[in-house]
Amino acid sequence: MTQDEMKKAVAEAAVEYIKPKLNKESIVGVGTGSTANFFIDALAEIKHMFDGAVASSEATAERLRAQGIEVFDLNAVSEMDVYVDGADEFDSGLNLVKGGGGALTREKIVAAVAKEFVCIVDSTKKVGVLGAFPLPVEVIPMARSYVAREIVKLDGMPEWREGFVTDNGNLILDVHDMEIMHAKALETQLNNIVGVVTNGLFANRGADVVLMGTPDGVETITL
Ligand code: A5P
Repeated sequence: MTQDEMKKAVAEAAVEYIKPKLNKESIVGVGTGSTANFFIDALAEIKHMFDGAVASSEATAERLRAQGIEVFDLNAVSEMDVYVDGADEFDSGLNLVKGGGGALTREKIVAAVAKEFVCIVDSTKKVGVLGAFPLPVEVIPMARSYVAREIVKLDGMPEWREGFVTDNGNLILDVHDMEIMHAKALETQLNNIVGVVTNGLFANRGADVVLMGTPDGVETITL
């Protein structure tokens, strides 16, 4: 089974997983990335079962609309039962590294609103210790160098993702060489640096459930 086949299988499993939670008024939170794209395509098959979606990026909003799913502004939504999104890494505590696609801030906002965060991954995303995947940090442009210097003090190696601007008009520093043993604490510490918008650690609000596509089928992982 290829990685794409695992992504598609897990995206379809996610639709089955959320189906019983939906009603005609439901708004579904939708993540960003290639696995989330498979999810959008599968979600379109059941679009008659819910009201619409909130998107975690402009790219996701565009794909949802192309599939005929109405996209709502998050400010117009008071309740969201479920948010479905991919990840770049996850560990046994269901802590995540996200933001490879640069959509981490909106992803974190939508995840915060949702009652349940369903993370959909293929088995290549499972790690013992987070940090092999460079940790994305979204920064206000004028703070880029300052934030980078502060990250070096935390033993990280920040690299500016040159040429990339987030949907919020900000920049990304990808932090290499981190062995993340205390994900919650590091998430908070990075967010406390002035000029950081947010970072790609989803630990203080990690996933509630991970659906993992493997060559032998989809596994459901909870704490
Ligand atoms: C987007 O900013 C990310 O957080 C994605 O959710 C993450 O990079 C996973 O992407 P893939 O599903 O493409 O691997």
